[in-house]
Amino acid sequence: MICDNISINAAGHLCFAGVDTIELANKYGTPLYLLDENKIREKCRIYQGAMKSAFGEDALPLYAGKALCIKDIYRIMREEGMGIDVVSSGEIFTAVRGGFPMERAYFHGNNKTDADISYAMDNGVGYFVCDNEEELLAIEREATARNIKQKILIRVAPGIDPHTHKAISTGSVDSKFGAAIETEQAMTLVMLAIGQPHVSLEGIHCHVGSQIFETQPFTDAARIMVDFAANVRDRLNFTFREINIGGGMGVPYLEEHPRIDYAANIEEIGKAMRACCEAHGFPMPRVRMEPGRSIVADAGMTLYTVGTLKSIPGFRNYVSVDGGMPDNPRYALYQSPYTVVMADRMNDECDTVCTVAGRCCESGDLIQEGVALPYPQRGNIIAVLTTGAYNYAMASNYNRLPRPAMVRLCDGEDTLILRRETFEDLIRNEL
Ligand code: LLP
Repeated sequence: MICDNISINAAGHLCFAGVDTIELANKYGTPLYLLDENKIREKCRIYQGAMKSAFGEDALPLYAGKALCIKDIYRIMREEGMGIDVVSSGEIFTAVRGGFPMERAYFHGNNKTDADISYAMDNGVGYFVCDNEEELLAIEREATARNIKQKILIRVAPGIDPHTHKAISTGSVDSKFGAAIETEQAMTLVMLAIGQPHVSLEGIHCHVGSQIFETQPFTDAARIMVDFAANVRDRLNFTFREINIGGGMGVPYLEEHPRIDYAANIEEIGKAMRACCEAHGFPMPRVRMEPGRSIVADAGMTLYTVGTLKSIPGFRNYVSVDGGMPDNPRYALYQSPYTVVMADRMNDECDTVCTVAGRCCESGDLIQEGVALPYPQRGNIIAVLTTGAYNYAMASNYNRLPRPAMVRLCDGEDTLILRRETFEDLIRNEL
């Protein structure tokens, strides 16, 4: 199995975090999201330990909440001593309600509205990751009105192609995010920030992309960031205290995907950064990384019930489940691979190649194609693995399907942390 929190019990049922998934499907209904709390904690600890060893004691991983933003995650992040990355007032609201200490929050986004900026300051968000000039001036205005000095980082585009899906590669020069180093716009934005009396420029941030398996995009990013920092020091006599190299380390969705040794990766990035700092005579900065997917992806799983099998002779077998693109739009959007199994018949022979389809009125509503399963029957339970990141976070009510419930698993206990939406929820905002 692709992750060590998955096993098969004597009944031939899939177990997740040691709990029989069929019992969970019977108890809570489907579609159902599951969340393995201990797996999330394990990942936080890997990042915490590896970053402190690679970059020094003041290094801090920030969990990127866009991967999964629910109150309960922020309890775990607080307890694990993590920082967080937030991207909207809605995420800030959720983190505050989850009891997260907001001085360890970093506010991202290429278009923070005045209302967002004000909301973030009212809620004591520690750092703004400033994307552009207009935002910088808006931060200065709001900070002046409050008579505070707001800590910021400048988001730079380091111009790295991370060899990943184009739609999720954000560090190249042609990007809606940040100011490019190559075009001198980053330098201009830094100069402007240094001149703002109510802004404390702490450092720079970049994010090269997502679902990256190689180490090199990150070591490249680390070097480019330190080179730029040294250049700023030499030209402007200003030294950044903090460098944030973003998130993006990949996770295996399929058996054949590489397994990343996150700690070894981080160690290597640390070496690259130290060497570059030494070469420039630049003090080792406080380092931040922003993992989202690699913290929560394999802590998640989705359970569905099979409704129907449609075999089209000469074409294919469609097995339809009771969820689909509203709870997991990633195949429809990015053709994202997933491991799909028949959770109640794990020991049966996988003799039927299927397209796993959702229930929406849209032919692109597929969960996965080319999946080998035991011949599916109505009522069977299908599990899609590794759905902790960017599934519930990207869920919709398309076709007026209520969003699924989410159950947290911890030390053999199951707890409902998100109730299934009701039909009343669907019309809640209609006047
Ligand atoms: N930091 C910044 C500034 C980001 O933009 C992102 C992701 C992260 C950190 C976290 O990256 P991660 O470690 O999760 O790869 N919806 C897409 C992923 C979009 C990622 C956007 N930014 C998907 O489902 O694959």
